[in-house]
Amino acid sequence: MKSLLSLDELSNEEIMEILNDAQEFKQGSSFQLKDKIVANLFFEPSTRTHYSFNVAEEKLGMKVLNFDPSSSSLAKGESFYDTVKTFASFGIDAVVIRHTKNRYYDELAHISVPIINAGDGTKDHPSQTLLDLMTIYEEFHTFKGLNIAIIGDIRYSRVAHGDIQVMKRLGMNCYTSGPEEYQDAIYPHIHMEEALKEMDVIMMLRVQNERHEEKMSLSNEEYLQQYGLTMEKVYQMKSHAIIMHPAPVNRGVEIADEVVECPQSRIFEQIHNGVFVRESILKRTFTK
Ligand code: CP
Repeated sequence: MKSLLSLDELSNEEIMEILNDAQEFKQGSSFQLKDKIVANLFFEPSTRTHYSFNVAEEKLGMKVLNFDPSSSSLAKGESFYDTVKTFASFGIDAVVIRHTKNRYYDELAHISVPIINAGDGTKDHPSQTLLDLMTIYEEFHTFKGLNIAIIGDIRYSRVAHGDIQVMKRLGMNCYTSGPEEYQDAIYPHIHMEEALKEMDVIMMLRVQNERHEEKMSLSNEEYLQQYGLTMEKVYQMKSHAIIMHPAPVNRGVEIADEVVECPQSRIFEQIHNGVFVRESILKRTFTK
């Protein structure tokens, strides 16, 4: 049985195998994991990742424990380690974990149950990266030579950090853009105007206020005008280019309300693909 902590551990071929399996699930694969018990341990809020893992697990016929931190013994001071060790001691078959700490899984190294990382701090979000890749591949049937600009709060984004690492080695050209205070100097920068004209994929990111020590210097209206995606800007994109966003979206901040479901947007297709990618990850956990 295999954990999935980071896509760094996987070769390009293994990533493509997960995407191929996800496509088979989308086409109606009848693969099942009937006797397996999985616990979803989300120590940080989540809608898409938590509940699409839940849907994927149900579709695979698994038995699911959904942990609620607010009504657990965390409130009595129990540690993160002891909470996970407790679930492992129940004899369950896998845990899906999201936590605010980068590489939270290092302290769980001696716990024998397979861990599926559902997002760690600002570092990585492997299942999100896989669903982003699936959505891009469905559109363009290749990764090689595609241009993507990730725009917004890069510094605090596990999606940006995780996606760029893998997209680069699959042959994509990755650029970042947005307010200076949220940029990460390690990535090539592109101005918004150039990104709109040159990119195949424009990925907008939420301003992650909950991770900032200081309040954003711009108002929401200023942010939308300067760095957000409005319909006026969508009209400047290449005719084949698509819009992505890991969501949740802040409508009227990084993306205008009418852009969220415009024809170029794949935001809800990303969410849809999330279920199939997570079925594929669960299959890998028990068959590799
Ligand atoms: N994209 C994403 O991780 O969303 P949630 O925080 O709702 O899971």
